[in-house]
Amino acid sequence: MTAEQRIIVIGCGYVGTVVAGSFARIDRHVVGVEVDGEKLARLRSGQAPFHEPQLDVLLRHGLARGMLEFTDSAATVVPSADVIFFCLASPDGGKGRADMSQIESAIDSIVPHLRRGQVVVTKSTLPLGANDWIQDHIAEQAGFAVPVVANPEFLREGSAVEDFLHPDRVVLGADDGRALDLVLRAYRPILDQTFERIVPLARGEQPRPELVVTSRRSAEVVKFAANSFLASRVSLINEISEICEAYGADIDVVAAAVGMDSRIGPHFLKAGLGWGGSCFDKDLAILARQARDAGVEPALVEAARRANRTHRRWVVDLIGDALGGLEGRTVAVLGLSFKPDTDDLRDSPAVELAERLMAAGAVVRAHDPAVAKVPELPGLEVVPDPVTAAVDADAIVLATDWREYSRIDFAAAAAVMRGRLAFDARNVWDRAAVEAAGLRYRGIGRADQTRLPRRADGESAVGG
Ligand code: UDX
Repeated sequence: MTAEQRIIVIGCGYVGTVVAGSFARIDRHVVGVEVDGEKLARLRSGQAPFHEPQLDVLLRHGLARGMLEFTDSAATVVPSADVIFFCLASPDGGKGRADMSQIESAIDSIVPHLRRGQVVVTKSTLPLGANDWIQDHIAEQAGFAVPVVANPEFLREGSAVEDFLHPDRVVLGADDGRALDLVLRAYRPILDQTFERIVPLARGEQPRPELVVTSRRSAEVVKFAANSFLASRVSLINEISEICEAYGADIDVVAAAVGMDSRIGPHFLKAGLGWGGSCFDKDLAILARQARDAGVEPALVEAARRANRTHRRWVVDLIGDALGGLEGRTVAVLGLSFKPDTDDLRDSPAVELAERLMAAGAVVRAHDPAVAKVPELPGLEVVPDPVTAAVDADAIVLATDWREYSRIDFAAAAAVMRGRLAFDARNVWDRAAVEAAGLRYRGIGRADQTRLPRRADGESAVGG
């Protein structure tokens, strides 16, 4: 019976394409609705409109097996759907307000075709209370109730398919038992892990995900709380890297030792250039705004955002110090996406770095394995390989920790560079390998590169 469940996915951006391809992979019949003609054509040919590991394989497989289709007409497919997933963006509409216009027009397009017994599931991150609003709005327009289930996504770009098919947890916020059953049926193979993995685990068994069934409000808050915790952790470890830098400690040792505390855990403690991406800053801004609207002071949420902005600038200053100024320097920036394994440039710390270096008078040449140009920085030259980026450069700067940059040919880069600086803003390079090529290594908060601060009277600032 489950094989016949029909799922409609409204909006085939990052989240929707992963949801559509993954449900088809576990034998749900899925139709993705996408109104952008160019995107639709790509999806129909089995290509995701963005870079995401494993996704193209899922799309081609789903299309070939007839389990997956794409259309631009919600009207023709909504009537036969059991479950309708809303995977539409709610971009920052400014001042911490989410722009709900895509959601509103999606509601308008499906309402005339809805029938009783269907369920709407929201996957995109929506402001607190939005799910109640959607349910009321649909009921008002349709003239009958269609239950809404809040099902926040926790998909990391670069591993979104893995995250969807093998999640830590599935969170369902529902106040209608029948609607909940329909959604549970859609997720059953994922909850029970009863299908073959695309990429086998090196060892061990795939743990079954936790299932959290709760109210819609709690489900909404889970998503904002998770991203606030993650962003705050990275802001904190980056701040500690600055303290390590100032006092001659090594952030990698500190982070490892801190992460050994089972109350803290080892993940999301990598210091670097700062966090970015389409979710963290937007979600924290919306949460802060909604907290304030409700009379709650979002001190830590705001601090996490502020610290991230400050840290990104701090790294630019470090590069400037290491080069004795940026004016007239040539800098090769390696990596432009906001993190590896994606071509997403939204709120990318690497792009901001390139922009700040250029604004300070440096000539910047960049490379990224998945990015050929940066539309908002037309003056930035993006070249096809890291060594070409290094030609005549005073410094090479690792800005996004793509795996291929850990095995860069330092000797080849050194041979074409004008200067000697290898600045590792993600702390991934092997200092010995860099130095063996005759380059000067500089990381973030790593020992052996720092001086202990002195007080004005020449005494060490440590101790006493
Ligand atoms: C995030 C959440 O993880 C995901 O659950 C949510 O639904 C969408 O937002 P994503 O934006 O894809 O996912 O990126 P994520 O892997 O969380 O990384 C965010 C940023 O933090 C990146 O810029 C990354 O480079 C940075 N980061 C992460 C660090 O600097 N250090 C770390 O230890 C971890």
